Amino acid sequence: MSKEAFPTETPAVVTCGLPYANGKLHIGHMRTYLTGDALARAFRLIGQDVAFVCGSDMHGTPVTVNAHREGIEPEEFALRWHERYKELFPRLRIDFDNYGHTHDETNQALTRSIVKALDDGGHVYEKEIEVAWDPVLEMPLPDRYVEGTCPYCGARARGDECDEGCGRHLEPGEIVDPISVETGEPAEYRPRDHKFFRLSDFQSYLAEFIDRLEGTANARNQPREWIEGELRDWCITRDIDWGIPYPDEDAEDLVLYVWVDAPIEYIASTRQYSERVGSDSFDWERTWKDDGEIIHIIGRDIIQHHTIFWPAMLRGSNYHEPRAVLASGFINLDGKSFSTSRDRAVWVDEYLDAGFDPDYLRYYLLSYGQFQQDIDFTWSRFAQVVNSDLVNHLGNFVYRSMLFAERNFETPPGGEVSESVESQIQSAVDGVNEALNAYTPRRLAQIPVELARFGNEYIQQHEPWHLIDDDPASAEQVIVDCLQLVKAIAVTGQPVLPGIGAQIWTQLGEEASYDAIHVEEALRPRTPTLGEPTEPVEKIEDETVERLETELNARIIEHTEAEDMSQDTTDSGDRVNIQRFRDLDMRVGEILEVEGIDGADELVKLKVDIGDETRQIVAGIRQFYDLDDLPGQRVVVVANLEKAEIFGVESDGMVLAAGDDADLLTTVGDAPLGSKVL
Ligand code: 2FM
Ligand code: ZN
Repeated sequence: MSKEAFPTETPAVVTCGLPYANGKLHIGHMRTYLTGDALARAFRLIGQDVAFVCGSDMHGTPVTVNAHREGIEPEEFALRWHERYKELFPRLRIDFDNYGHTHDETNQALTRSIVKALDDGGHVYEKEIEVAWDPVLEMPLPDRYVEGTCPYCGARARGDECDEGCGRHLEPGEIVDPISVETGEPAEYRPRDHKFFRLSDFQSYLAEFIDRLEGTANARNQPREWIEGELRDWCITRDIDWGIPYPDEDAEDLVLYVWVDAPIEYIASTRQYSERVGSDSFDWERTWKDDGEIIHIIGRDIIQHHTIFWPAMLRGSNYHEPRAVLASGFINLDGKSFSTSRDRAVWVDEYLDAGFDPDYLRYYLLSYGQFQQDIDFTWSRFAQVVNSDLVNHLGNFVYRSMLFAERNFETPPGGEVSESVESQIQSAVDGVNEALNAYTPRRLAQIPVELARFGNEYIQQHEPWHLIDDDPASAEQVIVDCLQLVKAIAVTGQPVLPGIGAQIWTQLGEEASYDAIHVEEALRPRTPTLGEPTEPVEKIEDETVERLETELNARIIEHTEAEDMSQDTTDSGDRVNIQRFRDLDMRVGEILEVEGIDGADELVKLKVDIGDETRQIVAGIRQFYDLDDLPGQRVVVVANLEKAEIFGVESDGMVLAAGDDADLLTTVGDAPLGSKVL
């Protein structure tokens, strides 16, 4: 059953995944917030009543682990970051209608009432389970306090998520070979009573819900397999002393798992907004309990929480279900993922301190690739996109049109817009509507730039500078058309380019409040005035790009080296910690070809199949083997070693061998080629 198209008569709420209040934010974090902001603005632009809400995620081990490292209480630590985030978002023109946090009383009270409703509804039960325990520090090790191996895919994982592998949520006790993050030593498992939410009660509901869920395809496809399989119950309490206590006197020593109270902040934040503006303006109860259009914008790593746990919680406590979930791909930095610990990131502060308009980043992140795809950031690509689309197309067209009008006419001409231009603007107006209904935020970025491209071709084709003396009426018509296009660019640009758009709006002399306009305004006649034109977008110079790239690379190298050095010594002196060991990418391979190397008596050049590729590897094993015996031999290859040139031959990896006779390491069973050695 397809739902009513936007704009609807009912209120909408757009939410973004809450950032953990635990450290600096980089531009990789900003994709969902910028998109949420653009969508909320676009909804307003088409006349949809909407609240855009978010807040800081204050609880859980992501906060306590970092607070502990700084030696301060989690509450003080999280509040400090919360205040910073609150100031940071508006600097990128991310204007939440309400930005709360999960520790405030609104959220605590709502959380208690929702959990009580689930409990009263018979959806919660208590069970003894095995939880990870640090035998040295004599403390429980929930979630991020423990690491180990994912039981589903074998990747290294955190206690509650397989963050580097299959992405699944992991339940307490599931992680294999648990290691305490605090001591680096193996953890034990100990029995403990915990509360469980019976997800299986919602299996058939979720199966139908996922079919009607709108948004990006990944948010429907990824959870389907889990919903259709066995839905295991969800442990909703933890043994830490930071969080919201379980609302039952008999279980007050347990706090709620952070993923219980975090999404409830979506409701709490909407409620705070309603209470501020009055429920006549925005009714949180109607939105969340009756018929609101609930739209969640999240990273693709938290799809399971938003399409299984959260809708089941809402259903079990009689709240309304989400209409759409949009799950974004990640942003990579020059092809590799951002890393906070290695300072491999472009920090939001850093971006702003470089003096760039926030709209440049908004445009870059929204226009580059579909929302659910991974995208890349490099300073040079950023500059290229800004200079081409925003400077050469949009800025250039707007400026040349206004300048020409200002220089040649006392009052800029008015009158009917040509048909072809009007129809172009009409398509752009329709495009905003279509982008929202198809959940394609990228379109919102493309529309104003496409109008500018059209405008540039139009002005170039009609050459008003040649017409002005011989055929002033035609020149006037061109200017009427171009200024209307400029107005349409300001209007349709509002979701993604709110700063640049507002500046153009002012220069056009328009009087209506820019923030309150309707997209149809793009087709309405202009105000017959014009301000002093200035160039709306500034070119990013090559030297700036070079400087930023050099600074970033230097910082990455410095931090990587520093981290590597710090990892050379471990708590236990002569041992490496598990992380360093796991940094080695060892794979099962098979030798395909062997050749001697001229002048090197001990070396051979091997071709080794490691699953999805064949590597050339130089190995010092010549004197120990009959070279004809080697092809077909299974070996273990270190695949992520830096390439080296040995005797003029490139070596891309290392085969492992033991002892003085270079006894090649192999596998006992028949693990497929390319299997990771763990
Ligand atoms: O993954 C995260 O960063 C979480 N802080 C997101 C929470 S989103 C929501 F459910 F509250
Ligand atoms: Zn996994």
